[in-house]
Amino acid sequence: MGRFEGKVAVVTGAGAGIGKACALLIAREGGRVVVADIDGLAAIACTEHIAAEAGRALSITMDIADAQAVAALFEAAERHFGGVDLLVNNASAMHLTPRDQAILDLDLTVWDQTMATNLRGTLLCCQHAIPRMIARGGGAIVNMSSCQGLSGDIAQTSYAVSKAAMNMLSASLATQYGHAQIRCNAVAPGLIMTERLLAKLDEPAQRYLRRHQLLPRVGRPEDVAALVAFLLSDDAAFVTGQILCIDGGMLAHVPTYADGGNSRAERPAGSSAEAVAAPHC
Ligand SMILES: NC(=O)c1ccc[n+]([C@@H]2O[C@H](COP(=O)([O-])OP(=O)(O)OC[C@H]3O[C@@H](n4cnc5c(N)ncnc54)[C@H](O)[C@@H]3O)[C@@H](O)[C@H]2O)c1
Repeated sequence: MGRFEGKVAVVTGAGAGIGKACALLIAREGGRVVVADIDGLAAIACTEHIAAEAGRALSITMDIADAQAVAALFEAAERHFGGVDLLVNNASAMHLTPRDQAILDLDLTVWDQTMATNLRGTLLCCQHAIPRMIARGGGAIVNMSSCQGLSGDIAQTSYAVSKAAMNMLSASLATQYGHAQIRCNAVAPGLIMTERLLAKLDEPAQRYLRRHQLLPRVGRPEDVAALVAFLLSDDAAFVTGQILCIDGGMLAHVPTYADGGNSRAERPAGSSAEAVAAPHC
């Protein structure tokens, strides 16, 4: 018996990438999944994939930044599957990140649209999910954050701030509704090679971004889905209000340690890790 037998999950941005991997895994473990995406064809393709594996899913074309569309999404989940137990707030305005600059160069339209989708859209989904979860005796929510919400970067200011705010939204939700048996955690991925990124980043660019990872392989959507499924399941019944990084160790060390190579042999001769790190401290 799968971990999500009898459960209903809503996954936003489930037409591609990490969201799709989450939807497929939840369905494989017995959950009924509402596949929500702004790209209707992608949502249908994901639903068909689930159906081909004998799972149950409903596709909904919607934009999480649109309050009416979010309300309609949760009404459809209730009508079709009888309620909501699990929510993965995964959709983000990724198309805006190339125009998302450093603070002095920041286009306020990009800031506003990023906040409207990533932060307000996530909040809206939570507002519609929580009463339905309470009606069913509890539930679990995972908010898809990012390592970029945990450390400063030279650009993508709006994205990073929206993800940092999503971390606090997760802690607030966990604090306010834990008594109602609702758990909420944030997952902060590092570099995860989705189809979108594979098309965008050539090998040198991937290598450049990967150089601070400790594990010598790329992150995959399935890696993130496994963590999300754990957090949604009863295996994580006593885990709430946390931010879990899934980044191959990217944020686990002083950056210069990894610059010296992942093995002692690759570090400059005669240097300790401390000595390599020291000039930058
Ligand atoms: N891929 C990474 O390296 C990485 C790293 C850190 C965090 N993340 C986070 O993971 C999540 C998924 O990222 P991904 O890389 O899988 O993206 P992706 O672009 O591969 O997939 C995102 C999906 O969300 C949908 N979507 C976009 N805007 C939407 C909206 N307003 N309403 C509904 N659906 C919408 C898209 O159509 C697409 O199907 C995002 O929250 C992102 O911030 C990704």
